[in-house]
Amino acid sequence: MARIFKIAPSILSADFARLGEEIHKVEVAGADLIHFDVMDGHFVPNLSIGIPVLESLRKITRLPLDAHLMIERPERYLEAFAKAGADSISVHAEVCPDLPAIAAQMRKLGVRASVAINPETPPDRTLQAAGDFDMILVMSVHPGFGGQGFIPETLDKVRTIRAGLERRGLALDIEIDGGIKVDNIDRAANAGANVFVSGSGIFGNPDYGAIIGAMRSRIGAA
Ligand code: DX5
Ligand code: ZN
Repeated sequence: MARIFKIAPSILSADFARLGEEIHKVEVAGADLIHFDVMDGHFVPNLSIGIPVLESLRKITRLPLDAHLMIERPERYLEAFAKAGADSISVHAEVCPDLPAIAAQMRKLGVRASVAINPETPPDRTLQAAGDFDMILVMSVHPGFGGQGFIPETLDKVRTIRAGLERRGLALDIEIDGGIKVDNIDRAANAGANVFVSGSGIFGNPDYGAIIGAMRSRIGAA
């Protein structure tokens, strides 16, 4: 089955003082999605951006907004993120005791439903509930901060998930998030990921177009 590859710059590493301009630049550079990291200081030891910022960005870009909720009790905020204009929402399996229920809540709100798992979280529960979701997000760093080193062991989990999905005839997106750069994106693609989040790998370089182009050619998606 041919997989569609998507590059999703994480704006956590963008210049927040010029956020609109940064989004415009990655849009022109060929980004497919804008990855939007939300942190609550509880699920992860950091804070970031939230609903009013997403609502403002909705007005200045046509790219899908991919909200990654690194927060406890995400069910409380799904409606607000959907109304603010999120196209897809990832909730963490570690804080969602009932995955089918939260998937149903997201789909009812008209957003793509995604479940995220931390590097140390086994894939079993997520795979069991996969039929209710549109995407699985595999964290390849410990969530909470941009600019960390890629954890190579997480690729085995991507392989396990892709194989488990294929066995059941499910064609979900697998998004990989954390430490993705030009020099390792092909390993993530070979393992079965097809949506690639990159923060420091893109915004840490002055020429976003060159970096996104190099990422695409590394995975044969130019
Ligand atoms: C980490 C976030 C990531 C992060 C990725 O908690 O979920 O999306 O911004 O940044 P890089 O690509 O720099 O690891
Ligand atoms: Zn993220």
